[in-house]
Amino acid sequence: MNILLTGGAGYIGSHTAVELIGAGHHVIIADNLSNSSPEAVRRIGELTGTAPAFYEIDVCDRAALDQVFAQEKPEAVIHLAGLKAVGESVREPLRYYRNNLDAALTLLEVMAAYDVKIFVFSSSATVYGEPGVSLFTEDMPRGVCSSPYGRSKQMIEQFLEDSSAADPSLSVVMLRYFNPVGAHESGRIGEDPDGIPNNLMPYISQVAVGRLPRLTIFGNDWPTPDGTCLRDYLHVVDLARGHLAAVEYAVGRTGCEAINLGTGQGRSVLEMVNAFSSASGVEIPYVFGPRRPGDIAAYWADPSRAAKLLHWHAELTLEDMCRDSWNWQKDNPHGYSEE
Ligand code: WQD
Repeated sequence: MNILLTGGAGYIGSHTAVELIGAGHHVIIADNLSNSSPEAVRRIGELTGTAPAFYEIDVCDRAALDQVFAQEKPEAVIHLAGLKAVGESVREPLRYYRNNLDAALTLLEVMAAYDVKIFVFSSSATVYGEPGVSLFTEDMPRGVCSSPYGRSKQMIEQFLEDSSAADPSLSVVMLRYFNPVGAHESGRIGEDPDGIPNNLMPYISQVAVGRLPRLTIFGNDWPTPDGTCLRDYLHVVDLARGHLAAVEYAVGRTGCEAINLGTGQGRSVLEMVNAFSSASGVEIPYVFGPRRPGDIAAYWADPSRAAKLLHWHAELTLEDMCRDSWNWQKDNPHGYSEE
């Protein structure tokens, strides 16, 4: 299929592009490079032997997006482009709502104009809010989010459900990611956050490579076995394969499905630190600090709907996640930039 992959130069996007091309699909990347590098696009071509079509555009730019549809005639859209930093969204809510909602609405309008019916959306476990339980299942209602980032994901899910109800020929899959970590086994593509990482694994790997002095663990007084928060970390290559399964599932179907992508297992921050040290051979200095606002103690995915509908389950192990994270970071100490 011709697949338009928005945000395809990014962390999740580049890994998804590699899996889609590997499965024989023709990938068109639209990315404004606001949080990604053209080097990632080049390396996708290096890894797969096939350079994806690449358009440096903002998905909110209706005219530019229309041109891409006219030229490339996509048969499906996988929409990953978006602002995703939780803390930043609290400081800059209007920028987040304008960017994330505008991009989704513009895409849906251009899809309608070109009669494109398949839409896979990068949603997030954050849409569940704080339901008071740790096992998140798709039939749970969307909860109360603690950030404009999370609320923008909830709003886009609502757009998709309403669009699907209005146009029953649409085929929509909303993938609710848990915590993606790791990198392609080659070490050629990986996570390259701008500035100080917000997320745990890139922070750990930057400590390991000497870019940061130590990790601060946000709270060791949580109601969990070792006092640190539990999350469902999954390998980004498993996540990418979940997108391939989702877009192929969506062909020849109609309706709107929310599907968790996670391993179904919660792991603590301390477990992640120790697993990374074992996989890399590098000790990670850390201190305990105060809890981070917005964090909750423990949650992980019920992955059974992904297994049932997509025939997908996470296959890569915690050791794979840590080894591949380190492999990427040690080979690319400054990410894609040549410092
Ligand atoms: C994981 C655990 C922290 C950094 C967020 C978004 C979610 C998705 C993934 C975008 C928590 C602890 C972290 C650090 C720490 N993002 N931690 N020290 O918060 O579960 O999820 O990122 O799609 O939508 O909500 O991920 O990696 O930030 O934190 O102790 O320096 O690591 O407290 O318990 P999170 P995270």
